[in-house]
Amino acid sequence: MYDDMTFSHSLKSLYTLFTPNNQQTYTSQLFLPPNHNFISNMSARIGVADLPELTELAPASPTLAELLQYDEKMPPPHHVLEMNQMKNEPHAYPFVLSFTNLTYSVKVRGKFGLPDVFGARKTPESVPATVAEPVRGEKLFSKNKVLLNEVSGVAKDGEIMAVLGASGSGKSTLIDALANRIAKGSLKGEITLNGEQLDSKMLKVISAYVMQDDLLYPMLTVEETLMFAAEFRLPRTLSKSKKKQRVQALIDQLGLRNAANTVIGDEGHRGVSGGERRRVSIGTDIIHDPIILFLDEPTSGLDSTSAYMVVKVLQRIAQTGSIVIMSVHQPSYRLLGLLDRLLFLSRGQTVYSGSPSNLLSFFADFGHPIPDKENRTEFALDLIRELEGSPGGTKSLVEFNKSWQVLKRSRRAVTGNETPTHNLSLKEAISASISRGKLVSGATSTDVNPNNMVPSFANPMWMEILVLSKRSIKNSFRMPEIFATRLGAVVVTGFILATMFWKLDNSPRGVRERLGFFAFAMSTTFYTCADALPIFIQERFIFMRETAYNAYRRSSYVLSNSLVSIPSLICLSIALAIITFWSVGLDGGASGFLFYFLIILASFWAGSSFVTFLSAVVPHVMIGYVIVVAILAYFLLFSGFFINRDRIPDYWIWFHYISLVKYPYEAVLHNEFQDPTKCFVRGTQIFDGSPLALADESLKLKMLENMGETLGFKITATTCLTTGSDLLKQQGVTELAKWDCLLITVAWGFFFRILFYFCLLLGSKNKRR
Ligand SMILES: Nc1ncnc2c1ncn2[C@@H]1O[C@H](COP(=O)(O)OP(=O)(O)O)[C@@H](O)[C@H]1O
Ligand SMILES: [Mg+2]
Repeated sequence: MYDDMTFSHSLKSLYTLFTPNNQQTYTSQLFLPPNHNFISNMSARIGVADLPELTELAPASPTLAELLQYDEKMPPPHHVLEMNQMKNEPHAYPFVLSFTNLTYSVKVRGKFGLPDVFGARKTPESVPATVAEPVRGEKLFSKNKVLLNEVSGVAKDGEIMAVLGASGSGKSTLIDALANRIAKGSLKGEITLNGEQLDSKMLKVISAYVMQDDLLYPMLTVEETLMFAAEFRLPRTLSKSKKKQRVQALIDQLGLRNAANTVIGDEGHRGVSGGERRRVSIGTDIIHDPIILFLDEPTSGLDSTSAYMVVKVLQRIAQTGSIVIMSVHQPSYRLLGLLDRLLFLSRGQTVYSGSPSNLLSFFADFGHPIPDKENRTEFALDLIRELEGSPGGTKSLVEFNKSWQVLKRSRRAVTGNETPTHNLSLKEAISASISRGKLVSGATSTDVNPNNMVPSFANPMWMEILVLSKRSIKNSFRMPEIFATRLGAVVVTGFILATMFWKLDNSPRGVRERLGFFAFAMSTTFYTCADALPIFIQERFIFMRETAYNAYRRSSYVLSNSLVSIPSLICLSIALAIITFWSVGLDGGASGFLFYFLIILASFWAGSSFVTFLSAVVPHVMIGYVIVVAILAYFLLFSGFFINRDRIPDYWIWFHYISLVKYPYEAVLHNEFQDPTKCFVRGTQIFDGSPLALADESLKLKMLENMGETLGFKITATTCLTTGSDLLKQQGVTELAKWDCLLITVAWGFFFRILFYFCLLLGSKNKRR
């Protein structure tokens, strides 16, 4: 089939195993640049050409789209395209993303203005032409800062477009704008894909956004990380073995073969290198082979070789038919060779836009020729910085760029070398892409409407819950010290309580100590839950990244998060119940123990739900701890232990009812004092704790006798004066039965889980305004 062995080799390493045999001619002519030998030479140089022969894994290798249709027993829908017709146009660009006059500004408040939260989130009504010009009608102190000023450009598939500029020049803002991460009303200008306006739902499915930081679970290996991404984002109709093959292909594509079984690692654990980490991070986002890939500074923080490797990988991805748009802080000379299109920004304005090779003539024409030995981009960035510092600013360069663009366009029109435009509609282009094996998560439907062609979620909910749970269990097993610490804390607390309150008796003093024990034990369960706080705060960014592109539903996350926490809560409850129940000498035998265990479990459940909810609200672990500790202290204060319900002032009584500690506390009191025949104050014990406590025993008996005479019945040294139910009344624990308390505690847990869900829904919109 091939006349050129090098070419076939590079094809194998470049394309995943999903490329069909019968479409290879079409694919190769259309999407590989003519200098394909160059690619294979480059891959050989960085060592990726020595990959296993992928075709051996899947001999027939149909496209994913075909596989899916095969599974669904439906006729392949994507044969609308005339392959022969396409063959004759090797320079057709199926995808062209163009953006025109993107303008975005935010309000910045002056020194004396109100902080941002009050109103800075509003959409600015008018955009001033220049930076820092106050808008009429606005407060004196508020200014409009223009972050993007009429930025235009075109990006095509097969190419890497790089946004360059000093830090603060608006690179991230531009990438955010293109990736639809800026709220609609705030961004002015137009973004189109193949001439059609993109709606956000569509963009979400066909694109991927790689954040500047690598947010990965440190204890998973490279392969596992990618496999979980595959399970989330590849459709369920794809068999497990196919997903595995995709992961293996991706590992090779990313050049991660040697690191496949290494854990990602973090500060405390040795893991993969920074460059590898970055590539894994990119891999998790491109597992479904998106058509548009946005990356914010994928090379920052990497040494030049790692940076080169990363961009090399991006180039390979682009050559499979994707648009790659990335920002670069300062590209090395080698790296520049990989970039097809550059866009220099300075304070939100375009100062150069074109190919790297044109940089020389551009700056020569501008009157600042680049010296021979100088790195072109460094020279350009230095010049821009110099101009920024000069009185005129970069205005001259911006103007020069505008006229230069016009000149270039007219020159191109004369030579007939027009900018190639798309000649496929968006729908057709996506269909063509899918039949080539791209956009793996799509292609499950025969509908030509792209909105239906690409389902929002790849998997049903139960599947998501399963995979999420599997992942968190795997993570917890890799870090057993976390659970061990929690269990240790509970055991130590239990042991201290057991020895402090060893075998309490049924005297009035015993009753007082029992009350103290219960109040402390129940609030301890809540305090122990505070360590669930960092879990979500740390996971939040991974969660936001994953849900931003519909890896799974937010509800699945909440459910799996709750489910996974339960086994450990059961262990903790058993430990605390066993250590304290008999040593303190609590009442109720086996059934009493069972209830005691259940109420501890319910408290742990409510506590962990409460803390999980808080972790979604507070931005920082330290703030979280402060709030948790304060609120739990108030819960204890209002629980009814320190002050009875009837003594709490009316305006504070609501706090009593929302006190999470109240319900388990009352439940254990019921459990302890429910036996109406059990006596806690007998005969002369009535004087315990009163000024007469130190009086002679015979004197006390005499007084009892006199009291009995006054009251009209006989009181002896053994007469029971206070039973368990009397005690409950004294404590004001009368409103709820013990099982009600248990149910309410459990219900609180569910309530906070639901709140947690809503916080996630509202809080992770993840868009600029
Ligand atoms: N919400 C905002 N309010 C005010 N200024 C902002 C806001 N967001 C970004 N900026 C400013 O906009 C400029 C561009 O930011 P950014 O796009 O992140 O730059 P880059 O990625 O090129 O370093 C910076 O000067 C930054 O301080
Ligand atoms: Mg940035």
